[in-house]
Amino acid sequence: MELKSQINLDKLPRHIAIIMDGNGRWAKQHGKPRVFGHQNGVKSVRETTEAAAELGVDYLTLYAFSTENWNRPKLEVNALMSLLVETLNKEIKTLNKNNIRLQAIGDISKLPKKTYKALLEGIENTKNNTRMTLILALNYSARWEILQAAKGIAEKAKTENLKIEDVNEEVFANFLSTKGVPDPELLIRTSGETRISNFLLWQIAYTELLFVPTFWPDFRKPDLYKAIIDYQNRERRFGKISEQLV
Ligand code: FPP
Repeated sequence: MELKSQINLDKLPRHIAIIMDGNGRWAKQHGKPRVFGHQNGVKSVRETTEAAAELGVDYLTLYAFSTENWNRPKLEVNALMSLLVETLNKEIKTLNKNNIRLQAIGDISKLPKKTYKALLEGIENTKNNTRMTLILALNYSARWEILQAAKGIAEKAKTENLKIEDVNEEVFANFLSTKGVPDPELLIRTSGETRISNFLLWQIAYTELLFVPTFWPDFRKPDLYKAIIDYQNRERRFGKISEQLV
């Protein structure tokens, strides 16, 4: 049976998060510089976004650049930033045509001016789209995000009438950059690495994790379908036992 038709559309994850990994190794395998891997990774971004929107997923979050990625060689960082500008400028039309809203999480004001500007324009130009939200994690790290939330709460407790005893999970989550976005039900990491690498640490408390060996530039629609089928075959117990689940 065709993969896509094996997906139960009534049990789709509302939010899928992806750690796109393996661009460098993919390029090496092809005897090319690392940047070639990132360039080909853009095709996978396009395909995955299209596949998720076609299925009816509400949110797709892609880890595109971590706060730790600044430590890479300057040439690679610059190439990634230019690639982002180029891709954003080129793909905004496609996002609008497909009714997809762009958002970003991370310390984006610290991105190079051109990247920041292209990103803000993309967010502004797609803000009324309703079919799916594509969230790019850029200059993002979960510990940074959690610290920001803690500082925000401390500030509000000091200057406004937020009582410390009223801070619960819901209040805390409202100080995160994912405010208003449901936690991902499925997190995929490509390239065979089995780490979280400082991604969405608060939000993935009950997320199903899937590590696939495919390098990101090889990731295509069928790979997303397989991931969703794998997710749908799991039992999510949230601390309960099987018999308690209806
Ligand atoms: C990880 O592979 C990939 C990245 C750090 C960057 C991801 C960026 C893109 C796919 C391009 C642009 C994205 C968008 C959203 C337009 P790696 O370099 O860590 O690979 P390696 O582990 O094999 O070295």
